[in-house]
Amino acid sequence: MFFAVRNAILATALLLSYPCVAEDGSAAWLRYAPVPAAPYASLPSHIFVHGDSPVERSAGAELARGLTAMLGRSFDVVTKRSEGSIELTLASGASTTLESYTIDSTRRHLRIAGNTPQAELYGAFHLLEEIAAARPIPAHEASTAAAPVRWTNEWDNLDGSIERGYAGQSFFFEKGHVRQDLTRASAYARLLASVGINGCNANNVNADLDLLTSDHLKEYARLADAFRPWGVRLALSVDLTSPQAVGGLPTFDPLDPTVIAWWQRKVDEIYTLIPDFAGFTVKADSEGRKGPAQYGRSPADAANVLARALAPHHGVVLYRGFVYDNHLDWRDPKADRARAGVDNFAKYDGRFEPNVIIQIKEGPIDFQAREPVNPLFAALPHTNVAIEVQASQEYTGQQRHMVWLPSMWRWVLDTDLRAEGRHTPVKEIVTGRAFPLASGAPRPGGFVSVTNAGLDANWMHHPMAMANLYGFGKLAWNPDEPLDRILDTWTRLTWGNDPLVVRTVNAMQLKSWQVYEGYTGPNGVGTLTNILGYHFGPDIESAERNGWGQWIRGEKNGIGMDRTAAGTGYAQLYPPLVAARYESLATCPDDLLLFFHHVPYDHKLHTGQTLIQSIYDTHYKSAREAGEYAVAWSTLEGRVDPERYRQVAALFNFQAGHAIVWRDAIDTWFERISGIADDKGRVDRHPLRIEAESMTATGYEPIDVTPSETASGGKAMVCRNDAGCTLSTVLQQPAGAYDIAVQYFDTWAGVSNYELLVNGVSQARWSAADTLAPVQFDPHLDGQTSTRYTAHHLAIKPGDTLTLRGVPDLRETLKDRGRQTVEPGAMSPPNQRRDYREFAPIDYIVLGPDGPLTPQD
Ligand code: GCU
Repeated sequence: MFFAVRNAILATALLLSYPCVAEDGSAAWLRYAPVPAAPYASLPSHIFVHGDSPVERSAGAELARGLTAMLGRSFDVVTKRSEGSIELTLASGASTTLESYTIDSTRRHLRIAGNTPQAELYGAFHLLEEIAAARPIPAHEASTAAAPVRWTNEWDNLDGSIERGYAGQSFFFEKGHVRQDLTRASAYARLLASVGINGCNANNVNADLDLLTSDHLKEYARLADAFRPWGVRLALSVDLTSPQAVGGLPTFDPLDPTVIAWWQRKVDEIYTLIPDFAGFTVKADSEGRKGPAQYGRSPADAANVLARALAPHHGVVLYRGFVYDNHLDWRDPKADRARAGVDNFAKYDGRFEPNVIIQIKEGPIDFQAREPVNPLFAALPHTNVAIEVQASQEYTGQQRHMVWLPSMWRWVLDTDLRAEGRHTPVKEIVTGRAFPLASGAPRPGGFVSVTNAGLDANWMHHPMAMANLYGFGKLAWNPDEPLDRILDTWTRLTWGNDPLVVRTVNAMQLKSWQVYEGYTGPNGVGTLTNILGYHFGPDIESAERNGWGQWIRGEKNGIGMDRTAAGTGYAQLYPPLVAARYESLATCPDDLLLFFHHVPYDHKLHTGQTLIQSIYDTHYKSAREAGEYAVAWSTLEGRVDPERYRQVAALFNFQAGHAIVWRDAIDTWFERISGIADDKGRVDRHPLRIEAESMTATGYEPIDVTPSETASGGKAMVCRNDAGCTLSTVLQQPAGAYDIAVQYFDTWAGVSNYELLVNGVSQARWSAADTLAPVQFDPHLDGQTSTRYTAHHLAIKPGDTLTLRGVPDLRETLKDRGRQTVEPGAMSPPNQRRDYREFAPIDYIVLGPDGPLTPQD
């Protein structure tokens, strides 16, 4: 009895002081935290659902669950309709091509009507989100999806790893099979449905070759079952060699009759197991995947064979436009990977079956921080198309940096390509309205996000990264929904309605793309990340002199790809009005300058600044802004739950340090290659820094870092002694409180330990346990592993001895070996050394004044 009373009191206390309750982020934006109930007092507490399909049942149950949790009174699903209930119903006579719902409310009644069961569910989620955001219930609201395809692509492999996944292992697959427990897969489908996503392709576009065996198909049926109550249809990526690899045929030539028959049989088999199967995604003739080119056949030949097999079952083929030669000759000034989409597909326009959709990456290269819009969107007026974006932030910070990508996607969707001299923004093209069918109806097309959510409790590792998935769903439903409204809703649902929290989070997220772009690759040159390995930290020249075609052409006399008519001719692949804009230096926007032009470093931008000085200034400004996230976030302590507060604080601290790594690598490289100094004298001059190699070393030895611009002075100190090593220096700084940042390398191998001491007294200890770094395995000291630890508020006086002690991890364990991910994609890291040890590496320390902003220097 006593315990029951105490528990009741505790429960009430927890409810009232919600921010004290720890949350692991798994609820994402569906937390249903309590809101002031008074404005919703007249909302009926009985929910009547007319239909009894699984999706409609989910809708009713979700309403009951959400409203009960938020409004603190009980809502239930009833079996009898009455005046004075919330009613969920199919709208009569509505067209079912695109999902559409209405919400109508009077004082005593609320009616959600959808033209499909899914649409009813979307209406229910919308009502819940309006209440969660403490907005009034609409008297009347109508909403229709912009396009039929609103899918995520998950790049999960059957072995449980996820290509370019940064939030843990797969929740679909493990050890070559579909997982037994699909609770989380089903929870994911619920999340997707809550933002209108209706399809999920569960496996890697670099598909496992044995994906389509009959045994596996039975397992996928369980996955489809887990998705179904949420109206999410399962799709699969297939490898075009399957007739050979699985079917044992001597060929996979798409026009061979035995191959055609094999696909038909395979598709029929799939539909007997999964009657609502959505279709196939195909990556072929790209990055080492085989395809129709092997037999002199076209993408249309291959896509159409699959499409004809799927058509009777209403399935679709999403054939990827990401087809390019990754063995380009970098010496050839005319060679250009960006041309590949148009060169490979435009000639087949109009030759695809009606259920083929060409899935086109937003830009012509590969999810860079800034690229122009892919010209292929304008080159296929007689073909269905969908846009592919990447929520998983492969080149944009891998869910360790906060980057709100809907800002970028909106910019892409709004870009007017002026096809046929008309207003043809990308959003009108992918929703099929710019080039309708002969009947006048929009072409079927849509939106795909490579999302790669994983087993991390909060799905995408960075709590802020979930805003990308949320925003994707919202833009796919309505590409015109104002960005600030999308963001505001996500913030309120995720972090609560406290005005300071909402203001602070919205402001940070809104500028985060620009900030990230500002400290990474400038002026459209590409992200400048390590393109041969993990795509995470800076490695500028990894783009050059290889077959991948992400060249930046950085030379003594200038930088940038000449893609004008005199260069590769890429600019001319756009419709004439847009081509002319990019072709001319006078009209090419500054933020795409180096994508289209090779210019000297002192080229004057439209702003009047020289390119080189703008690069220096933007990098300093943006790295500083990234450092301010942690400061702004600290004002929210106690206003959000402690667990997620700590997670975000740690990630923002990491970003603050890594933004400096980026800033320094890029600025140092540009200063070296251009020979033009920063007119503010900041680059490579760091008055607050103490280089590790200048400290008194006991055991520590210097080592060159490659590329050199990813370490201060190009060097670090490493310790090869099991017992540990030290670096010391006598400080001459004026007496006072200081923040001390230690720049070290947290390789994804062992776990080194560090300690900071003043006059022999321990001040701070930490482990390089790569808690903040991506999951892939990188044993190198470089821009990916350079990490910062900051100790705050240390009292220092002149003559004090500062000592850094590092204890390396010299074990070579099997566990570490197991962490090496073997990627089926062609972009697997080169020169992977079999070196699993970590030598407690240190780059430098910074003594900065004690203050809210991490010492920048
Ligand atoms: C990028 C990515 C690969 C992926 C490819 C694709 O190149 O790094 O891992 O396979 O895109 O989209 O197919």
